[in-house]
Amino acid sequence: MSVLVLGGAGYIGSHMVRRLLDQGQDVVVVDNLVKGHRAAVAPEAKFYQVDIRDKQALSEVFEKENIDAVVHFAAFSIVPESVAEPLMYFDNNTAGMVTLLEVMKDFDVKKIVFSSTAATYGNPVNIPIKETDPQNPINPYGESKLMMEKMMAWADSAYDIKWVALRYFNVAGAIEDGSIGEDHGPETHLVPIILQAAAGQREYIEMFGDDYKTPDGFNVRDYVHVVDLADAHILALDYLAKGNKSAQFNLGSATGFSVKEMVEAAREATGVNIEAKVGPRRPGDPDILVADSTQAREVLGWQPKFDNVKDIIKTAWNWKEKHPNGYDDRK
Ligand code: UFG
Repeated sequence: MSVLVLGGAGYIGSHMVRRLLDQGQDVVVVDNLVKGHRAAVAPEAKFYQVDIRDKQALSEVFEKENIDAVVHFAAFSIVPESVAEPLMYFDNNTAGMVTLLEVMKDFDVKKIVFSSTAATYGNPVNIPIKETDPQNPINPYGESKLMMEKMMAWADSAYDIKWVALRYFNVAGAIEDGSIGEDHGPETHLVPIILQAAAGQREYIEMFGDDYKTPDGFNVRDYVHVVDLADAHILALDYLAKGNKSAQFNLGSATGFSVKEMVEAAREATGVNIEAKVGPRRPGDPDILVADSTQAREVLGWQPKFDNVKDIIKTAWNWKEKHPNGYDDRK
């Protein structure tokens, strides 16, 4: 039996593939390579270049492979892009989920672990955020993912498809051997941008806004290491394999760091005096996003190994030093 990883050529998906292979699992990857990188997929995994909205091609994968469970990372995830192009997000993310659930139903595959997001909460009413807090997304990305969560819930009632939604906060870092890592084009995420500045590929990092309602005025996020995040998916697969009911879990570290603190941590991690300037706020950024991950720890038994951002950034720097131009250096 194999685990199907949709979006397995992406940043988080490719780390998941490596962790599943480490555990001796058979892994099948589906990715349309619009955002992902073929070189990120471990050679031991079977690879199909298929778009999840292509029902026929996806059905052929399920026909050929003996799929036991699905882990779904194949979605667009850039908040400002979703505001500019909402339909692109509802098409790829939300409509993609309709096709996937139809194919799972046709082939009697009953387990799915899904990449959800803190963006489904919108502006939080409590910090840290609990799974039971209201979900009122403030951008199309968060809305598209909330709709996907709801679809799975209805598919559970109608077809008994069991699901776990993992609501990620801010993911960073790379596998410790530095063989795969974060590489988006164009890059919008904080840690890789700081490291571009450290590597001399940009003059400085612009910190978006210094007038947030936080102790130092810079907005605060909760950073989790990508391998810890992948391991939570493996625990979620075990949870479903034991016949547990569908559920959702926040994945964060419970400690918030401001943009300025992240730059400082990156200076220490890299030994480079990274230049930083304050710029205007970026639209749609809440002041603080920090997770209460008690449920993931208690119910799934999740124990993240990385508990400080300096160590997380060191692993991202290792990938960056080995591959200054990301996957362009691996072709
Ligand atoms: N930031 C800067 N300068 C930059 C880039 C980012 O100051 O050049 C700041 C942002 O304003 C934000 C923080 O760094 O405060 C993190 O920004 P990212 O773009 O790295 O990440 P986001 O918090 O916007 O979003 C990420 C994921 C989303 C997910 C969200 C949940 O990309 O998919 O975390 O917390 F929904």
